[in-house]
Amino acid sequence: MSTHIGAAPDQIAPYVLMPGDPYRARWIAETFLEDPVQITDIRGMLGFTGTYHGVRITAQGSGMGQPSMGIYAHELFQDYDVQAIIRVGTCGAISDRVSVRDVILGTSASTDSAMNRSRFGDVTYAPAADFELARIAAEVADQGMLPVVAGGLFSSDHFYNPDASITGTLAQYGVLGVEMEAAALYTLAAQFSRRALAVCTVSDHLLTGEETSAQERQETFEDMIVLALDTIERLENRSR
Ligand code: HPA
Repeated sequence: MSTHIGAAPDQIAPYVLMPGDPYRARWIAETFLEDPVQITDIRGMLGFTGTYHGVRITAQGSGMGQPSMGIYAHELFQDYDVQAIIRVGTCGAISDRVSVRDVILGTSASTDSAMNRSRFGDVTYAPAADFELARIAAEVADQGMLPVVAGGLFSSDHFYNPDASITGTLAQYGVLGVEMEAAALYTLAAQFSRRALAVCTVSDHLLTGEETSAQERQETFEDMIVLALDTIERLENRSR
């Protein structure tokens, strides 16, 4: 039993979808999983396990920010032997290459967090998505005609950054959106030699000020969850 999740080892599936919001974990489980069972509620960070087309999948909240994601991803990999985690979240667009409602496949995650500075010292480590997961997700999206854009995310420690100028520089270097968790997830997946990918819908555009309505956010989010679930199903069927 881990410290912050506390479920028994066999209660967590080898594949995990991680929204930031624990209520989203419940919604994913109730909407898409068969026979979902709640496996944790410690600190309100809900987790559920069920099956999707016969594949066991857990939906577990990560909370907001890299320290929170770091705790849950670490325990999932270390204590529950999880093989792949897909973060399913939202991000703010910082590039004119993406619009609100787009889904970004985060192939890399630049960060202003100190977490990797304390791991790697003077070396600037490059947190990256698992190539196989990203490739499968792109394939699934193409076949389902779901428009996705692959590119870099910026995992920031700030939601309210008093100096927002860095996002302009990052956009010039191909970074598409800002969120707060992917870099920690990618680094931990690398540490434990597991797979991870972050897929994020664009909820707001930092350049144009455009925002999605609650209804649009919900619809795009649903499409993205199906993309993530189908990606896991295809990964599992390949490894059989
Ligand atoms: N910043 C950080 N995280 C986010 C944002 C943002 O603007 N939008 C959605 N998640």
